[in-house]
Amino acid sequence: MKRMLSGIKPTGQLHLGSYIGALRNFVNFQDDYELFCFIANLHCVTFYQEPQQLKKNLKDSIALYLACGLDPQKCTIFLQSDVPAHAQLGWLLTCQSYMGELSRMTQFKEKSAKQTDGITAGLFTYPSLMAADILLYDADYVPVGDDQKQHVELARNLAARFNNRYGETFVLPEPVTPKIGARIMSLSDPTKKMSKSDGINKGCIYLLDDLNAARKKIMSAVTDNLAKINYDKENQPGISNLLEIMSALSDEPIESIVNRYQGCGYGQLKKEAADIVCDTLAQIQEKYNEVIASGKMEEILKQGAEKANKISYKKLKKVQKKMGVDIF
Ligand code: AMP
Ligand code: TRP
Repeated sequence: MKRMLSGIKPTGQLHLGSYIGALRNFVNFQDDYELFCFIANLHCVTFYQEPQQLKKNLKDSIALYLACGLDPQKCTIFLQSDVPAHAQLGWLLTCQSYMGELSRMTQFKEKSAKQTDGITAGLFTYPSLMAADILLYDADYVPVGDDQKQHVELARNLAARFNNRYGETFVLPEPVTPKIGARIMSLSDPTKKMSKSDGINKGCIYLLDDLNAARKKIMSAVTDNLAKINYDKENQPGISNLLEIMSALSDEPIESIVNRYQGCGYGQLKKEAADIVCDTLAQIQEKYNEVIASGKMEEILKQGAEKANKISYKKLKKVQKKMGVDIF
């Protein structure tokens, strides 16, 4: 069975973009791959996080992993900081990464452009830690949304560089992005991706949003004045985004939705989109409440970390031996 690994960095609450672009796909993959899913809590702290809030977001994310259908019998679920090899290999790979390639990472460029001071060194070396996450487990595939593809490609380059220098050590990973929904856009500005940094504005639907609030966000989504329903990301980004959301959540092909809506108004389309989104959220939230009430999360994480520690420690030792830092 091929291995697959992915992580989510819950600096805020999980939203519809993270669900469609990532989480939902992990669930579909768990039957066909040996899947590792973790919460990237070390990646969260490249910016200051209020500790109590971070704790809550981490717990909620694990509960949402389970609520969305990840099954601890089928996949390994763990917290990054419970597996020390991530930070350890992260350092060794930081020492294989060049300043030039790290400064070319789009996420670093965008995030560091937004603020002038207080940019941490962690934000810069973030992709080397992410490479460690992936390479420790010999992951063949890494399912991610569009924004993370570049980081997986860097992991692949670092793996190849290391193999060249020290001999065959790492599997070269490949990013896997969904055909539909790899980049869900903000409802209030469909030229930007839906993101938790949208904060409380109307552009982002959180998985734990009140259903009425979520419905309102869809009904007030920014569209255009062309008055026709087409999948045309360039000229009709708002409508195309709604079509992608509907298609991803209902599995109905986009062309079929477009055909059904010929001659109809945007209000009707939004209503169906809101129904589909609210049905999805309602199901997730019901399971989320069950997971929280079950009190099982701690045990699931403990078992996940145990398995992850075994595999990753072996790999770390191998790397240290090859590099000559391990002497016996
Ligand atoms: P994050 O919550 O930023 O750690 O992202 C978790 C996963 O969701 C990553 O694989 C992202 O690429 C994906 N993701 C985040 N935002 C979006 C979005 N707006 N559309 C599609 N995928 C997304
Ligand atoms: N950087 C990813 C994000 O922002 C989260 C992440 C950390 C990740 N380590 C990973 C994703 C390893 C895939 C594989 O979403």
